[in-house]
Amino acid sequence: MSIENFIAYNPVRLHFGKGVTDTLGETVRQYGKKVLLVYGKGSVKKYGYYDKVLGQLASAGLSVREYHGIKPNPVVEDVRKAIALGKANKVEVIVALGGGSVIDSAKIISIGIANEVDPWQFMMWQTMPQKAVPLVNVLTLAATGTEMNAAAVLQNPETGKKVGFVHPLLFPKDAFLDPSFTVTVPKDYTAYGIVDLIAHALEAYFGGGEPSVVDRITLSIIRDAMAWALPLLNDLKNEELRANIMLDATLALNGLTSYGKTGGDWGAHALGHELSILYDMPHGATLSIVYPAWLRLQSERLPKRIQQLGEGLFGTSRVETTIKKLEEFFTSIGSPVRLSEAGIDASRKEEILNQMNKNQASGMVHGLNDEDRKRLVEWMV
Ligand code: NZQ
Ligand code: ZN
Repeated sequence: MSIENFIAYNPVRLHFGKGVTDTLGETVRQYGKKVLLVYGKGSVKKYGYYDKVLGQLASAGLSVREYHGIKPNPVVEDVRKAIALGKANKVEVIVALGGGSVIDSAKIISIGIANEVDPWQFMMWQTMPQKAVPLVNVLTLAATGTEMNAAAVLQNPETGKKVGFVHPLLFPKDAFLDPSFTVTVPKDYTAYGIVDLIAHALEAYFGGGEPSVVDRITLSIIRDAMAWALPLLNDLKNEELRANIMLDATLALNGLTSYGKTGGDWGAHALGHELSILYDMPHGATLSIVYPAWLRLQSERLPKRIQQLGEGLFGTSRVETTIKKLEEFFTSIGSPVRLSEAGIDASRKEEILNQMNKNQASGMVHGLNDEDRKRLVEWMV
């Protein structure tokens, strides 16, 4: 029940609901006239979001350069290229149109343009940015919470690392969340997004401190997402269901669930990132495999906390039942709970363990050692 000392800060202006991008052009114009528009591999063009955004920017009289091709599990190389383009064209504001990969890349592009530092140095926490180019985002996939937080995650295939950087300068200025921009997200990524938001709530829940009101809020976010998940997966075009999941995802990682806490744990995320770097596995899919294993490991160490979780989510105080029910939920929405379900067989165990040990994947509150990681991998196969 303890409430830890905390500082809350979130300057992002959130525009939520159908039609909110009608004011995108005038919003962006406040920050500058030369825009760098960043997007992914083409879904935004295919489904018409690009035309809407470009129309807004054009009608506000803004000039637009583009960087596209950001891949899921984004890589620093794309960020470097976009920084060079942004510098050459002296861009004054960045508009990110896409999911977490695009917005995370745009955050590092923003500080990369404004500071003479290689972007990977930020990711390695070797240099802190002094300024940032203003960033506005238009979210197309509900999952990561990046639209309203100060974190970005990038991969560097050369060093075999997928890591996060957090800094107040990474807060976007404005976030535009129109659920109708998410109705085309395919079934698998819709499910991965739901897993991801639930995982964010769990990371917060297992962080330092147990503020009761925040615990209740956090568990409510998970319950809400679980309640809407299957109806949405059976009705992907339903904007109301999309809106519910979109709000859940933003609330799970915009700071709210860390009030009264020292922060989240993030051990399961650290382990998941190692699976992404090895196999380019979608982020949410890594988490539905890792979290049940992580809970099994912690069941000996945190039985009371997991018992409370079970009571809040499933009305059970039995730890093993809670883990089973969580697995059943992930399975019901089509997200893998074992590596084999993601096409990775047991012969890869050593490779996975070596990767996790090499980067010392661990939590901020609940540390993991080599022996823990060995047990975890056994539970994942
Ligand atoms: O590349 P395009 O063609 O745009 O297609 C994307 C991509 O293939 C597609 N997509 C996105 N919006 C769509 C759509 N398809 C149809 N209709 C739409 N409206 O979906 C695919 C996945 O996109 P991606 O951006 O990779 O997904 P997500 O939003 O889940 O982002 C995942 C990344 O965010 C990081 C993850 O590690 C991962 O790299 N995270 C960022 C966090 C943060 N900044 O706070 C926290 C998270 O824990 C997470 O680590
Ligand atoms: Zn996540």
